[in-house]
Amino acid sequence: MSFSQHRLGLRMMIAMTFMVTAGMSRFAVAQAVHVEKSELRKQMSQIDEAMKKLKHTIRKAESDKETLELIVKVEQTAIICKQLSPPIPPTIAAPQRDKYVAEYRRQMANFLSDVCQMEAAVLSGDHDRAHQIYTKLKDDEDKGHDQFMPDDVKESTAKEH
Ligand code: HEM
Repeated sequence: MSFSQHRLGLRMMIAMTFMVTAGMSRFAVAQAVHVEKSELRKQMSQIDEAMKKLKHTIRKAESDKETLELIVKVEQTAIICKQLSPPIPPTIAAPQRDKYVAEYRRQMANFLSDVCQMEAAVLSGDHDRAHQIYTKLKDDEDKGHDQFMPDDVKESTAKEH
């Protein structure tokens, strides 16, 4: 059983029991099952929102005020994320769990450090450099998500984008 199946399995089974007997299709059941967002997901959504705005402002000197406010928002949120734990797949044995969380934290710390370098580039007036670092942040995101984002979250965010 995969990680996402494990997380959804029990809630799905209970919901299916009621809903399928009530005549709903499997698709409707999947839509109706409410999966509550973790604190980390809520915080990540804040980073996502700010990053989308930064995409339009990061290269423009006239948008520096907004850019710098957005960067502070990403930094503050990254500090919160760094101290939270990613969901730990049940396939990771107990002795390996601390190492798993430490690797997540290391990658978040690298991400935060890159955001600070982007801030320094904006403050130096080097918008090409700032944009270059923005692109690297997207690589940090992809790497972090490949390694730590559960499959069910990957699927639900893919549908949103
Ligand atoms: C530009 C940087 C990043 C952006 C824009 C971003 C965005 C997101 C978004 C939109 C979600 C899903 C939120 C939702 O379900 O509504 C998410 C989840 C997640 N992200 Fe990120 N992320 C970034 C960087 C990272 C990094 C660097 C890591 C790891 C080191 C990471 C690890 C995770 C994990 C583990 C989840 C799933 C949390 C859970 O299921 O509890 N993200 N992220």
